[in-house]
Amino acid sequence: MARTKELECVKYEIDDEGIAWVTFNRPEKRNAMNPKLHFNMQAVIAELETDDDAKVLVITGAGDAWSSGMDLREYFRDTENDPAARFKAQWAHRHWTQFLATSQKATIAMVNGYCFGGAFCSLAACDIVITAEDATFGLSEVNWGILPGGNVSKVFADLANHRNAMFYAMTGRTFDGAKAVEMGIATLAVPADDLRDEVVSIARELMEKAPMVLAYTKQA
Ligand code: COA
Repeated sequence: MARTKELECVKYEIDDEGIAWVTFNRPEKRNAMNPKLHFNMQAVIAELETDDDAKVLVITGAGDAWSSGMDLREYFRDTENDPAARFKAQWAHRHWTQFLATSQKATIAMVNGYCFGGAFCSLAACDIVITAEDATFGLSEVNWGILPGGNVSKVFADLANHRNAMFYAMTGRTFDGAKAVEMGIATLAVPADDLRDEVVSIARELMEKAPMVLAYTKQA
């Protein structure tokens, strides 16, 4: 029987096959990551890691965004003069992405739309990235007079390469899913209408493997 759970900013469903669909759930804010979303993700990822019914984790976004990055108001502006609050939010983001990156289970990012700034750190934590061809990616911080700080520029350069990181960070230009694959940021780009089917098909393929072999393969 499928099971669902809904927190304030994140919800998940474990379907009958064992795919855990984890959804950033702030569509009205294009799934911008506020502190609450990070705290929710910490709880959800820890819960799913120890849930035997969840065999493959899929991370996606509600509405037309995967995630528009850190919440410019709630994550940055509201914590400007509150270092403890900023630290807790930052720590929670690092914690859940590291937890995801070292998960024993296979993880897939299903990029259904916008992916900006801090969202690249979340993306990099997933094993496989399947994107809609028409998804929009970008390091747009420069357009708002800020820089892709934290780990973002490093993560981007690690995924793509130095030249691409420099170009997209300096211009703030956007690019689509096909370009994301070309640069090594995504694994596969498919038409938006086929995105979910493609992810299900890959998840099924992964669930056919012996779980421990998959876990060791990831570590190797
Ligand atoms: N932080 C906080 N709020 C954000 C946000 C972010 N990163 N991204 C979007 N939002 C909010 C908008 O402020 C708006 O809120 P409002 O309805 O209360 O005014 C709402 O989400 C919808 O955004 P809007 O710009 O109207 O949607 P759009 O579909 O026209 O454009 C984006 C979507 C993602 C292209 C655009 O919102 C954007 O460029 N966001 C900033 C992305 C960014 O620079 N991220 C880096 C941060 S590290």
